[in-house]
Amino acid sequence: MFQKTRVRLALFNAAVLFFLLVLGGSALFVYTKHRLYQGIDEDLARRVAQQQVQIGRGGLKLVVRPPRGVDEAPVATLIWDERGALIASLPEGAVPDEFVDAFAKRLEADEPQTLEVAGHSFRALTVKPNRPPSLSQASFAYLQIIRNVDAEQAVLSRLLIGIIAGSLLGAGLAVAAGFVLAGRALVPIRAAWEKQQEFVADASHELRTPLAVVRTHTELLLRHPERTVLESSQQISMILKETRRMSGLVADLLTLARSDSGQIELRMEQMQIDRLLAETAEQFEGLAELKEIRLTAEIEPDLTLVADEERLRQLFVILLDNAIKYTPEGGRITLSCRRHAHGIEVSVTDTGHGIDPDDLPQIFDRFYRGDKARHRQEGGYGLGLAIAKWIVEAHHGRIKVESHLGQGTTFSISFPQKKTPKG
Ligand SMILES: Nc1ncnc2c1ncn2[C@@H]1O[C@H](COP(=O)(O)OP(=O)(O)OP(=O)(O)O)[C@@H](O)[C@H]1O
Ligand SMILES: [Mg+2]
Repeated sequence: MFQKTRVRLALFNAAVLFFLLVLGGSALFVYTKHRLYQGIDEDLARRVAQQQVQIGRGGLKLVVRPPRGVDEAPVATLIWDERGALIASLPEGAVPDEFVDAFAKRLEADEPQTLEVAGHSFRALTVKPNRPPSLSQASFAYLQIIRNVDAEQAVLSRLLIGIIAGSLLGAGLAVAAGFVLAGRALVPIRAAWEKQQEFVADASHELRTPLAVVRTHTELLLRHPERTVLESSQQISMILKETRRMSGLVADLLTLARSDSGQIELRMEQMQIDRLLAETAEQFEGLAELKEIRLTAEIEPDLTLVADEERLRQLFVILLDNAIKYTPEGGRITLSCRRHAHGIEVSVTDTGHGIDPDDLPQIFDRFYRGDKARHRQEGGYGLGLAIAKWIVEAHHGRIKVESHLGQGTTFSISFPQKKTPKG
């Protein structure tokens, strides 16, 4: 899929570049041609103006001013009568007889003309004097000045070849460069896509086990329809437990999927973070007591923050839940919150089993669980910290973890104050 996109991107880029090169080349060609011919035409017009036809005893005589500079190109003048018959060509014999017919056809044109005769190119300007001098023995109707433009044509055709070759070469290079660049541009997209694929695969995998449990227990219930609810209570409670776990998983998955697509709007409000922490700690007291864990809260009073209260509650629940889950009986958990120079810092410290240094870099990844064997019993999915990280970052905060195996773990979060958080 990515290879195809890469090739398509490269070809598309090359096509766009080729089109632009052709467009630019054509503009250059047209402009150059225009400028070249403009120069020639001005020269022809000037020469016409400079020439005078005199009628002398010997017939028609052309009085041509001497060339002004060495750069003036040689031109020939043809004098025609009313019926298009050549009266004279000057300098004499400058135009071979076989060319004359071709020039005769262009007598009526007012504009300068380009004509190809026997492999040569000429530019011709014909003028019809207002008062053609007419004498009984000689009269003329047209004065035609012609100039050989082979050199200019050669320049133009070389330019055309250059433009075509340049465009093709440019397009070829663009395909190659586009291929390399598209490959590079696709790296992060590919990584994100693979991550997403992995996420979907993990989610499906995690849902499979509870679904299988629910199915087996329901089948067992159906096999013994005569049993009372009390007699089947073990199966029913298993089903209930698995369904609850699945609901939790689906809710977490939905949160992460929505956060990825930027669909979650944070409801930012001025709130008392000290009050929220006290409430959350109280909520966990029962659970801690059950595990004989001492939970203490060291919270500075009057700490306000602009934040989404429900999301922060979810964040502290995730951290306290982990602390209780991963701390053995008799341990201690400290929840603290204080103001610092740039904002507010919250930390959750436990005296639990700690995190293996090898696992530390990955614990915020989705579906990452540190000690697989132990966690199967504790029943987590490895989504808690991924959600926690998203919540903290959505509030422009930072989350850090410090852990020593066998000694305990501290998660610290700092929230900046006076900043408008993103959604
Ligand atoms: N306080 C802690 N002490 C020791 N290990 C921890 C602690 N908090 C997190 N971990 C490790 O980090 C891993 C990821 O934590 P996370 O909260 O994301 O997932 P979970 O707790 O396994 O499952 P879930 O939170 O989705 O139910 C855990 O599996 C655990 O190995
Ligand atoms: Mg957790």
